[in-house]
Amino acid sequence: MSKRSAVPPPVTAVLDASSRWLPARMGEVEERLRVEIRDHGEQLGEDAASTLAAGGKRLRPMLVLLCGGEAGGESAVRAATAIELVHMATLVHDDVLDQAPLRRGHPTVAATSGRARAIATGDLLLSRAFALLARAGDARSVALLAEAAVSLARGELAQRQDAFDTGISEARYLDRCRLKTATLFECAVTLGRDDEELRRFGARVGLAFQLLDDVLDVTGPPERTGKARGTDLLDGTVTLPLILAAERDPGLLTIDLQGLDPEGAEQVCERIAATGALETVRARALDLVAEGKRKLAAVGFDGEGRRLLELVADGMVQRYS
Ligand code: IPE
Ligand code: IPE
Ligand code: MG
Ligand code: MG
Repeated sequence: MSKRSAVPPPVTAVLDASSRWLPARMGEVEERLRVEIRDHGEQLGEDAASTLAAGGKRLRPMLVLLCGGEAGGESAVRAATAIELVHMATLVHDDVLDQAPLRRGHPTVAATSGRARAIATGDLLLSRAFALLARAGDARSVALLAEAAVSLARGELAQRQDAFDTGISEARYLDRCRLKTATLFECAVTLGRDDEELRRFGARVGLAFQLLDDVLDVTGPPERTGKARGTDLLDGTVTLPLILAAERDPGLLTIDLQGLDPEGAEQVCERIAATGALETVRARALDLVAEGKRKLAAVGFDGEGRRLLELVADGMVQRYS
């Protein structure tokens, strides 16, 4: 697992294709993240630092910077740092809710330090995001991020409410994905630049991103995804791969998810894959990304800005982590 690169190929592809300002600003974001999480006591500092050091794709900050463009300067770097802090906070909290053992190729904070420390670490990360923006008097970004954070919490709670219910509808599933994932992508692009079509781009690629994440949960392998296979099934989260697979193999609906162990979950993953549902979900995600990319045409980016955003969108469907 240690062989996993901290910066996966879809991200390096964007950095390689960009002019020098983007990698430089991504480096600044990384440095700001380190500064924000230090000096908060031994326990919190340790858990926050390990979350940060484990890497992650840094997709949301990259979207802020790309949408803000080179002229976005310091305020874009600040907003990019803040959104990654919110994102990391939600991951640490999410792993408490999902009882997930592995994240970014390492044991989760919840697994190593327990629920209480994980909740506190998530709180720290969330607080630092808003403190950073407040210090700079950036009320617009505070408001945008606060709205996205509430949406995320609502999505996570809706998912808990639906836990172990194999009868949930596709519409309900998509609503949850919008709340818990697409909204933060929408927020990322809007932090960079306020534009209705760009928001639509963010919403679509964000939704595609969650659909694909749910596919990766079924396919694994952990060496590539950095997360355990079948985590969704084990915590009772019914996702589109299972919803569509059950239309083709109705016996899947009678499985008692509550009685599953990791080995049983692997078997259900294989059974979902055997129906061809994963290809259907991937195709749906690809359609969403294509639709999102079409929205960019109306935004008026320079050639490079649009090309790089398209690369990010394409990277989302080629990803394995
Ligand atoms: C994971 O997001 C949470 C989802 C919305 C599926 P990422 O896959 O962007 O997580 P990192 O930051 O790269 O680890
Ligand atoms: C997305 O859902 C979680 C958040 C938006 C915080 P998942 O539960 O599928 O994310 P992973 O798979 O744990 O990263
Ligand atoms: Mg999870
Ligand atoms: Mg997942």
